[in-house]
Amino acid sequence: MGNQKIIGALPGEHNLQDYDKACREFSFEMLAREFYGNAGKINIVHRVIDHNIERGRGDRMALYYDADDRQASYTFNELNEQVNRFANVLDKYGLQKGDRLAIFLPRSPELYISFLGAAKKGVIVVPMFEAFMKDAVRERLLSSGAQALVTNAELLSRVPRQELPDLRAVLITQGAGDAQTLDWYSEVAGASPRTEFCWVNREDPLFILYAAGADGRPKGLVHVHDMMLGLWATAAWVHDLKEDDVYWCTADPGWITGIAYGFWAPWLHGVPVLVKGGRFDAEQWCRALEKYRVSVWYSAPTAFRMIIAAGKEVYGRYDLGRLRHILSVGEPLTDDVMQWSLETLGVPIYDTWWMSETGMNMICNLRCLNIKMGSIGRPVPGIQAAVVDDEGNELPPYRIGNLAVRAGWPAMARDVWGNREKYEEYFRLKPWFISGDAAYMDEDGYFYFQGRVDGVINTAGERVGPWEVEEKLREHPAVQDAGVAGKPDKIRGEIIKAYVVLQPGYEWSHALGEELRNFVKTGLAAHAAPREFAVKESIPKTPDGKVDRKVLRGWVLELGK
Ligand code: WTA
Repeated sequence: MGNQKIIGALPGEHNLQDYDKACREFSFEMLAREFYGNAGKINIVHRVIDHNIERGRGDRMALYYDADDRQASYTFNELNEQVNRFANVLDKYGLQKGDRLAIFLPRSPELYISFLGAAKKGVIVVPMFEAFMKDAVRERLLSSGAQALVTNAELLSRVPRQELPDLRAVLITQGAGDAQTLDWYSEVAGASPRTEFCWVNREDPLFILYAAGADGRPKGLVHVHDMMLGLWATAAWVHDLKEDDVYWCTADPGWITGIAYGFWAPWLHGVPVLVKGGRFDAEQWCRALEKYRVSVWYSAPTAFRMIIAAGKEVYGRYDLGRLRHILSVGEPLTDDVMQWSLETLGVPIYDTWWMSETGMNMICNLRCLNIKMGSIGRPVPGIQAAVVDDEGNELPPYRIGNLAVRAGWPAMARDVWGNREKYEEYFRLKPWFISGDAAYMDEDGYFYFQGRVDGVINTAGERVGPWEVEEKLREHPAVQDAGVAGKPDKIRGEIIKAYVVLQPGYEWSHALGEELRNFVKTGLAAHAAPREFAVKESIPKTPDGKVDRKVLRGWVLELGK
């Protein structure tokens, strides 16, 4: 039933003093009145840029970019100018409110500038993780019907342009494009540094993020400008951001964390963010923490474990004394990681539970609460969570069931793009949003995460849909059928294990395993490639013909012993 040890009240300033009072008295509608006043129309970009400039923070740093071959920084004023220029480029190519701009870039300043420039014009952004290969890219561009794309020359080769009739403008930030593409820099340089806002409604779309489900194609979750309320509140209460903080959220903006907390949430508080280019590297990450004097750090257990594994001779060389606290997301925060942080860095790690669908931190170890080890914490004020059975009845403490949230919070995804039915499945047990996670609650209202119920895989904090991987494997001539599941792993949380039924005439070999792994890697995405395979006679199916994820779960757990 989880470790009940209480670390005790932690020192420090608290934005949120009295949790119970806040839960009783706070509502997001109250916050909305304070935030929006009588303004009928809003725009999140106004709040993250103009509002900071109006408060005299225009010359303060907004973005530090750090990669091996490039360092750059932007104040809010400088960011504003770039954002305006890019917004005008979108105008020039005829993009209007409600049109879609896909962004397929590695972490780089152009990614953030393009995102904000689009949002300023009411254009909906479709972020795509840079590791996606052709199938995943095609799927997202076709589904969203994106009219424009920002990418670089290298990634452009994964964009099947001839199959995308809606795509009419492609902007290249790096490397040579071709006769059909535009150069991002010369377009931006040639555009005016001033522009008008497109004022939108609270419910107007801001971005569409494709997230894996257990069965079927990834779902285009539609997030709206109103999410700023939830991001502002959680940045204050959960992340405890203060104006002189330097904040580093290590997630890529191809995932929800890298969007919501990568830049929106900190900029809503005028706090500068660090964006680190390149891949994970324990030493470089520690160096970045020291160099940029990071005071609040948001990352994932896999990264912490990799830094711990790199050893004291790596992290011990850097002065991480600026850190006020750390936050964690995406996978269970294990006791050993928490102990390491307390003992070595002298700061606690606050766990945050949420998902692409929720758009904001939902159940957290808030700074004003005691941390119970093993627990994801309690709901953020304004959020009502419960554990419910398969009929939607609330379960008493310690009973494991569906982790559910009462529908209607500001950052909740408002739709699945082009598929209302899929969206409504989340709310099949009204008034609850059903997360797909299992959990139980203790008598003090703390929640304990117990894994996914639906077969969605979480490898190194990255969400992978088994169905997409299975579809890809079935395309290979040697594979007749495939079933994929997450197998528990000490470092990565889960790894992807694939069960395959071979076509007649094929025999299993190590080489075939490598070939299949590569096939998924180059067709779909590296993080979606199975690390383990097993050959089976058949794949278990449910009566409606879907892979039986419960049986597969049993297989991986048994073999995982
Ligand atoms: C898992 C990431 C354990 C969970 C923000 C959820 C967690 C899925 C935690 C969403 C946590 C998220 N402890 N597991 N603190 N936070 N998860 O959409 O299974 O990429 O359903 O959003 O990550 O993944 P997603």
